[in-house]
Amino acid sequence: MMEMSMELRCDQAGAPESEQDRYALLRQVISQYEAKESNLIQILHMGQAIFGCLPEDVQRFIGQEMDLPLPRVAGVVSFYSYFSTQPKGRHTIQVCLGTACYVRGGKKVMEALRDHLGIDVGETTADRRFSLEVKRCIGACGLAPAVAIDDVVYKRVDPNRLADILGRHA
Ligand code: FES
Repeated sequence: MMEMSMELRCDQAGAPESEQDRYALLRQVISQYEAKESNLIQILHMGQAIFGCLPEDVQRFIGQEMDLPLPRVAGVVSFYSYFSTQPKGRHTIQVCLGTACYVRGGKKVMEALRDHLGIDVGETTADRRFSLEVKRCIGACGLAPAVAIDDVVYKRVDPNRLADILGRHA
């Protein structure tokens, strides 16, 4: 019987409250797929939807249920940027570092955000308010540099105005 840490918590709206119930739901999901490696990505998506992220305990559980070694599961999780091993913040900041944004100051915007939030790319603030990510293009190249916070896209972002922008996402 595997041990499950009761400390990991990636709160996810709509998912069962208790960790035990989340694992039970995940087991049920996995049983609906053939335990083939080609289904791993789909199952990881479902796991992330249930738990909100894919910490090691969840990866291990999936590996055991699918008869796959943990390093194989972990390799897939780390390869794809849309999988996260840590709980996400309430708001996701995506800084565009595509070519147009990069040459028009995207890097300075990123540095200012890092300083302001005290976190690096892929991390979440201690208060779980913001997660910081990088994108290669968010479709606003003509008005670069661009930053998306959740589904709001900010264009021609001035690094000196970031506090004001972040303040809109309390
Ligand atoms: S390169 Fe940044 S929006 Fe397209």
